[in-house]
Amino acid sequence: MSTPTDTQRMEKIVSLCKRRGFIFQSSEIYGGLNGAWDYGPLGVELKRNLKNYWWRVVVHERDDVVGMDGAILTHPAVLKASGHVEGFSDPMIDCRTCKAHLRADQLVEKKGVKQCPNCGGKDLTEQRQFNLMFETHVGAAAEESSIAYLRPETAQSIFVQFKNILEVSRKKLPFGIAQIGKAFRNEINPRNFTFRSREFEQMELEYFCRPEQGMELLDYWKEERLKFYENIGISRTSLHVRNVPDDERAFYSKGTYDIEYDFPFGRQELEGVAYRTDYDLSQHQKASGKSLEYFDEETKEKVIPHVVEPSAGVDRTVLAMISEAYTEDQAPNDKGEMESRIVLRFHPRMAPIKCAIFPLLKNKEPLVAKAKEIVALLRPDMTVFYDESGAIGRRYRRQDEIGTPFGVTIDFETLGEKDPALRDTVTLRDRDSMKQERVAIQDLPAILRERIR
Ligand code: GAP
Repeated sequence: MSTPTDTQRMEKIVSLCKRRGFIFQSSEIYGGLNGAWDYGPLGVELKRNLKNYWWRVVVHERDDVVGMDGAILTHPAVLKASGHVEGFSDPMIDCRTCKAHLRADQLVEKKGVKQCPNCGGKDLTEQRQFNLMFETHVGAAAEESSIAYLRPETAQSIFVQFKNILEVSRKKLPFGIAQIGKAFRNEINPRNFTFRSREFEQMELEYFCRPEQGMELLDYWKEERLKFYENIGISRTSLHVRNVPDDERAFYSKGTYDIEYDFPFGRQELEGVAYRTDYDLSQHQKASGKSLEYFDEETKEKVIPHVVEPSAGVDRTVLAMISEAYTEDQAPNDKGEMESRIVLRFHPRMAPIKCAIFPLLKNKEPLVAKAKEIVALLRPDMTVFYDESGAIGRRYRRQDEIGTPFGVTIDFETLGEKDPALRDTVTLRDRDSMKQERVAIQDLPAILRERIR
């Protein structure tokens, strides 16, 4: 189903990402490398918060999942067995007029005639298959036997290490192996900012089970993943579950859900949750000649486990979080006049900086000293930012724009100058409601810890 797109909103998001240091074009000073992105100081915090939270709920908070971190360089035999060498390709067509390389599904059709979406040219090449894997050579000799691939997904190293991990973790079915890491695909047309990149990160779980548990676990993981997105601040109304029909699913999959998000450029896939049966382990067992079976102590039988795979993109989720958070509203300036403001309404758990700390005036030493004490008090528990420059309203605005959920202001009341009862209290401002409450400095760490967890 198509959704309305919002080009202007997307442009504003891309511009904010660059202006405030979330995401930059890779190799920008040399003209940029298409399909590669660098995360700046705030982007890297946001990305880490996402990965850490995924790891926390998928690995640390469960008894039935362990983690791993596999190599990016992959033996060609692995990707031959998985089917990637033969089949991991997109149909591609070239436009002879403007020389554009196009994915076949990007052509536009006018009055029944296929055209180039860039120049309208109708002189197109025949369709051919283009393999998306990046090939490289290991060692000094660049020959056939030295070929290795940059992994196109993290999943395969999980399957290949299945037996080792089973033995060391001594898990019983059902259990999962999780991994977060880089993947590489030579996409024909990287586009929509970071949405379709050539280098990106995945968060993948391979959850192994008995065959009869597969369909039920597929639904279970779909629900778990929806909860996850809500817990990182993506509203349920922007998320959509697409039950992938038989003719679009991989031949070995008995069921797949795509979790889609309403990006400003339309509704697109955020994550796939797929029941892959025993395809992967069977393929690797066949190709390697090594047993990847599981001995079921209850039935005293050896089985190849089936697997349900929730596979999410880190970069796409970061982009979804930024898109979801981006808001423009009205806020009063220092003179009480309403002005428009940009706010990133990140869930506090995900926000790159949790708390900004402001002395009311930078030239009043006791205010500055107290503010620095608060920085030191909060720093062990969260990312903080100290800012003493400019009017207080402008300082709030700068933090709103990068999504800092809390602001602490140290004023003359903190020093007990107006009312001794208020000594060692500060104002705590909430980014979204802009409401301020007076709290004791000693209570700040506990109050904030509770709100950002
Ligand atoms: N192991 C299964 C697998 O890799 P996929 O649907 O090809 O499945 C899973 O990829 C997720 O990885 C996607 O839902 C998306 O979030 C992310 N992803 C895939 N290709 C991407 C690309 N070119 N750029 C950014 N993210 C991508």
